[in-house]
Amino acid sequence: MTRDKLNTDDLLLLAIELAQKAGKVQLEYFRSKNLTVENKLNDADIVTAADRASEATVISGIRERFASHRILSEESGLTQSDSPFEWVIDPLDGTTNFNAGLPLFSVSIGLKYDGETILGVVYAPYINELFHAVKGEGAYLNGNKIGVSGCTELSKAVVGTGFPVDKMLTSDNNTDNFEKILPLTRAVRRLGSAAMDICYVALGAFDAFWEINLHEWDVCAALLIAEEAGAESEHFRNDRNVSVVVGTPIIKQKVSQLLSRSPG
Ligand code: IPD
Ligand code: CA
Ligand code: CA
Repeated sequence: MTRDKLNTDDLLLLAIELAQKAGKVQLEYFRSKNLTVENKLNDADIVTAADRASEATVISGIRERFASHRILSEESGLTQSDSPFEWVIDPLDGTTNFNAGLPLFSVSIGLKYDGETILGVVYAPYINELFHAVKGEGAYLNGNKIGVSGCTELSKAVVGTGFPVDKMLTSDNNTDNFEKILPLTRAVRRLGSAAMDICYVALGAFDAFWEINLHEWDVCAALLIAEEAGAESEHFRNDRNVSVVVGTPIIKQKVSQLLSRSPG
């Protein structure tokens, strides 16, 4: 089957349905007294019972409909298969916010066909914002078409960023870029969910976003949403997993020129 002949309607409906189900599960755990929390890499890299319950919801929903599809999901890794379809899932993006009781967190579901992202859904349940895109069909927030901002001056730009989970272990932790870019912009924000950060570029709320050492599950769905909204993106390093800058074409270019390409 070629991508042209793919019918994405059912796949999109499933992704939206599962994002909403997972969001509901997240809200059941949010601000609960006895949330189970475990360290992964260290105290700055955690996973909660809500991450796992959200992941189980999304994966079982895909398995019920498409048992043969490949699935890459943050907490359970990659399930191998020969299928050209691969779902890329961050079951809870913004776990640190979630665990602290801060309301910005999301579930991110992307779908690739033969390595190309064909649809993406990012849902932030507490604020009820659902972003989606299908390749070639534009980007939407809660069903309304969205587009990037028209900002062209860095001094008027609001830019998002984030700091890597291994920031306690290495000085290559994005503070060099932050120091350089902050004084040149209207504001730099650190929201705590990379998927939402990138969707806010799509919405035109952020004029650009950059981060180092993200992973495929953080960006797969959101980058398609941003691209479909008119953003440009660039993987600006290849030694730190997924290191990406995304924005309106002009602001993305201006931020990109300031970013370190090697350990700072
Ligand atoms: C994290 C968030 C955060 C980013 C971290 C990610 P997680 O994802 O996207 O904004 O700065 O690098 O690891 O762990 O909450 O899924
Ligand atoms: Ca994440
Ligand atoms: Ca996560």
